[in-house]
This record gives sequence, structure tokens and C-alpha cells, in this order.
Amino acid sequence: MAKQGEFIGSLDAGTTSVRFIIFDKNADIVAQSQLEFPQYYPQPGWHDHDPAEIQSHCDKVIDAAVKQLEEAGWAKESVKVIGVTNQRETTVAWSRKTGKPLCKAIVWTDSRTKNIVAKFQNKLNDVGVEVKPGEFKKGKDGVAAIRDITGLQLSTYFSAIKLRWMIDNYPDVKAAHDSDELLFGTVESWVAYNLLGGVEKNIHISEVTNASRTLLLNFRTLKWESSLLKFFDLRESILPKLVSSSEVYGKIASGALAGVPIGGLVGDQQGALVGNKCLKAGEAKCTYGTGAFLLFCTGDEVVESNHGLLSTVAYQAGPNSKPQYALEGSIAVSGSAVKWLRDSMGFIKEAHEVNTLAAKEKDTGGLYFVTAFSGLLAPYWDSGATGTLIGLSQYTNPSHIARAVLEANAFQTRAIIEAMALDSKSQLKGLMVDGGMTNGDIVMEILAEIGGFNVVRPEMRESTALGSALLAGSAIKLFGWDLSNPETIAQVNTKGNTEFAPQADSAARQKKWEGWQKAVERSRNWDE
Ligand code: G3P
Repeated sequence: MAKQGEFIGSLDAGTTSVRFIIFDKNADIVAQSQLEFPQYYPQPGWHDHDPAEIQSHCDKVIDAAVKQLEEAGWAKESVKVIGVTNQRETTVAWSRKTGKPLCKAIVWTDSRTKNIVAKFQNKLNDVGVEVKPGEFKKGKDGVAAIRDITGLQLSTYFSAIKLRWMIDNYPDVKAAHDSDELLFGTVESWVAYNLLGGVEKNIHISEVTNASRTLLLNFRTLKWESSLLKFFDLRESILPKLVSSSEVYGKIASGALAGVPIGGLVGDQQGALVGNKCLKAGEAKCTYGTGAFLLFCTGDEVVESNHGLLSTVAYQAGPNSKPQYALEGSIAVSGSAVKWLRDSMGFIKEAHEVNTLAAKEKDTGGLYFVTAFSGLLAPYWDSGATGTLIGLSQYTNPSHIARAVLEANAFQTRAIIEAMALDSKSQLKGLMVDGGMTNGDIVMEILAEIGGFNVVRPEMRESTALGSALLAGSAIKLFGWDLSNPETIAQVNTKGNTEFAPQADSAARQKKWEGWQKAVERSRNWDE
């Protein structure tokens, strides 16, 4: 006879793999399964996913983790609710009639849409965006108006730009758009659509943190913005119904967890903010994966950035809850620079060896490495910057270079934090960290040293998945959780933190910081 328990499932549909983790009420992992799925790079700058493959892999990891749960003696009915968290901005177009994708998804990293961005930048300069009937904002005022409505800037990163490219380049998508058959969504929307019954039920929803990355959401009112639909020439019929990050959206239609409610949807970086319990203004987390994403909670106040950051929805704890906001800064190259040391330079065989290699030297020997392999994101926003290794001498060895890679990560984090302090006018209390790179103590020590702030590494670092589990549990008040009262989750995952504090004197830190800034200047405007 199988044991009955109370667990929460969390489906993390990430950029390179999907995972399903089953948590108990202490955030201990009871079962989990992970699968990588194919990445398509058909042309330089292009990055596609097959939406059907994303879904089939999600179905497989759910089934595999549930099987593991049963093998451990638990009844599958012990899973009371699931949450979904996902790679953000990646854009899916599918048919209302068939429920099938109309083309491959364009991934958030994709930069094929540079010409679409330029086209809309020109439109903004020439015609402007109509913020009120008959009132157009042009040029710099237009940029400010879009930022005011969405928290974002015109960039290849965001979904409306990717969708516009699909309509302009794929005849099937255009035909579906023109005949009101097109359904647009980010990844949580696509996954929820399928889990909740696909074309038979046609439940087409989008969660607000994800929607806040589309350039189509008014992130203050949490409503789709008609002036932007008009600006991008998109029909309203394509849009999903907006939902909060924590509520019951429906029940899973088939598979191992048929009948289980979905109670949480959240973009993965916001999920990690919740999972790290950075729920008060001034609390921040940074997730170091391929790239790195730093989110700084600003509470229920929108803080507009004048220093190169984005403003974004952090989460909405229920349909009637006030949205919570964050400032966000992204670093394009983080763990991928370690991969570069491994795969292109051959300095290490396994990624974790970067820690021992870097530890062989006590400093970089005067070396700086601006890892701008594809330009620089926040707070620099310079697509013309190039990777720059400066300060080389006969003395330089691979350990110096490895250390300079880790320092580059720390310098970029510091640059974002300084911008956040200027925008929010509040000082960081301590940076919570997670992601693969944070396993190495030396990475953490360098971060604290260069940043001049305390770095806090939790023992349980599955923060993204935990965030969506907390939101899903809150939707049905499982274990008494209720995200609208953060006290109710304060005792979840209290296994302990390791804190790394800066040791060096601040004059030495400042000198290094100035060196980095000079190196960044050298990396700019490289158009060979
Ligand atoms: O904005 C993109 C971000 O959500 C991707 O996260 O962890 O899937 O690479 P990840």
C-alpha cells in the first residue's frame, strides 16, 4: 500500500533543459527528473526551439519524476499541486484551430531581429507611439514612453519584436494573424495551454511576470497595452488572458498527474527571486548560469531606471494582489565564459576545474578580461563592445586568465549593483546567489571582494523551482503558505546560508574597479 503524503511539483522549462522536481513542505527534494532538449542554430545569430519538443520533454520529466516518487513508496496522489517556471521572452506562435505550433519558437538569445528593432526605432522617430488618442510621443520621448509603460526598451530580447519577425517572415503565421487564428505566447503560456488540455480546452493564458517581458504589457496596470499593439501592428485576438503568478488556472488534462491543479506560473528569474525569499524592497538575488540575472526587489513601487536597468514585475501573489516589482540587470556571458575556457581554450576539462585553476594565483597579475563575446548588456547596453583581454605580459599564465574570467563576472555584477543603488536610492543588504557557478567558494570570495558587499549562498540552491513551488502551494494554501503574507513561508528552506564578506581594504578595491572601467572603455566601439 503506497504511502500518502503532501508534495508540490515544480516544472522548470529552461533554455537548454526541462526539469520536474517534487518538493516536500521543507523544500526537501523527494524526486526529480531532468532532460536536455535540442537547440537549433540554423543561421548565425538565430536560436530556435521546437515548441512540440519543449512540451514532449516536459511531459516526459513529469512522468519520470512521478515514477521515481512511486518507486520510493509514495502514491502519486501525494502531489497536490504543481507550479511552472520557464525561460522568459522566448516566443511561440500556434494555431487556435489545431493547437499546433505554426513555426519554431524564437529563443530569448536570438539576435536575427536587429532589423525589426531598427525599423521600430525609425517608426518611433518618425511617427511616434500614440500614448493617448491623437497624442504621439516621438524620438527620446517615445523611448521614455515605452519604458514608462513596459519598463523595457526596444531590443531583440523581447517577445513583440520576435513575434513581429515571425509574422513578417513566415506566411503561415501571417495568415493566422490576419484571420484571427494565431495564438501568441511565451513559454509558460504554451506549456500551460498543453497541460490544461490543448486545443480541446483552448485555455490560452499568460502570467504577468512573463507578460512583462513582451513589450506589450502595461506593467503598472497589468493590462495589455493597446497603444503598443497598434505600434507593433498586432491584432488583439492573438493575446492570452492575463493571470497572476499564484492561483488555480485549471487541472492537468492527461499523463501521470492528470487531475492535479496548476497553481503557479512564473518566469524563471522571478521564480529564483521568490525562491530566495527576496520579497522586501532592497533584497536581491543573482542567478549565475550561462548568463547571469540580477533582480533587486523594489516592493510594490515601480522604480524606473535611469542607469541602464529594466523594471519588471517580480510576482503577483494572486488575482487581487498588488503586483510586486524588481529592477533587473542581465549579464550575457557568465558561466559561458567558463565553458569557453574549457571548450575553446582547453585550459580545463570540466567546468568546476576553473576553481582550482584560478586558485593557483592570488591575483590576475594585472590582467582584465571584458567577456563581451556578444556585446555588453546591463548597465552598458553596448552591442559594439568586443571581448577584451588586457594587461597581458610574459608573466601571464592560464590561472591568471581563469581568475580574470571570474573577476569579469564580479565586476559586471558590481556595475549592475551600483546602477541599482543609484536608481533605487537604497543600499543592497546582501546578495543572495544561486546557479551552477556559485558552487565554487573562490567565485563567491572574488564576488564579495570586488563587489564590496556580502554574498549569501543558501545550501538549497534550487531556488527557481522552489519559487514556483511556493507560488503553487500558496494558491491552494497548502502547508498554510500564502505569498501575500511572506511570514507564512519564512520557515521553508532554512537549511542555512554561507556568507562571504569582503576582506581587502576599500582603497585596493577601488583601484581594481577603476582598472575594470578602463578595460571596458577599451572594449567599446570595436567594428573590425
Ligand atoms: O531572460 C532569459 C532567462 O529567463 C533565461 O533563463 O535559466 O533558462 O537560461 P535560463
